[in-house]
Amino acid sequence: MSRIRKLAAFAALVASVAILAAACVESDPEAAVTPTDAETIPNLAPQTDEDGNTVPPEGAELPPAEGEEGGEGGGGGDDAAVADGEAAFVASGCSGCHLENGRAGGGVGPQIAGSGVTEEGIRTIVANGRGAMPPGLASDTDLDNIVAYLLSLQ
Ligand code: HEC
Repeated sequence: MSRIRKLAAFAALVASVAILAAACVESDPEAAVTPTDAETIPNLAPQTDEDGNTVPPEGAELPPAEGEEGGEGGGGGDDAAVADGEAAFVASGCSGCHLENGRAGGGVGPQIAGSGVTEEGIRTIVANGRGAMPPGLASDTDLDNIVAYLLSLQ
């Protein structure tokens, strides 16, 4: 192939790419509209507030814990703190290792329900970590609520 023909082929390629790109820009805006009857699902992903804290998703209704009602063996914390603590337990990533929100064993972390942990024990391990558990995943109100929640599982 001569040099000129190579250049011509290259120019043709560039032109066709440009045409394709132009075609993309002129897409029909009507086609991109979400249908009004589309089903929406709540966003359950942990959110970050303006202070950079990880917070549970706003308005998300987490599934109720099995056997959470009844207060059998329940210890401490008012219901709101327990409910917020369960949400914070998920939002802080605890439930990723402590399966079923700490109610089941078999994950990376042990089952916390019925393990006999104390408030002091929870605060110490969350602040310092232990073994495969990283430190500092929750603090302040989140940690207070998580303590109430985990104590309610004992
Ligand atoms: C990366 C996995 C991982 C994450 C995330 C994690 N943990 Fe753990 N957790 C562990 C492991 C592993 C242990 C056991 C540590 C040991 O004793 O070696 C543990 C132990 C514990 C214990 C002590 C249980 C007992 O019976 O002594 C508590 C309480 C606890 N975790 C709470 C939490 C809370 C609250 C969070 C979230 C703020 C959390 N964990 C996040 C892995 C994790």
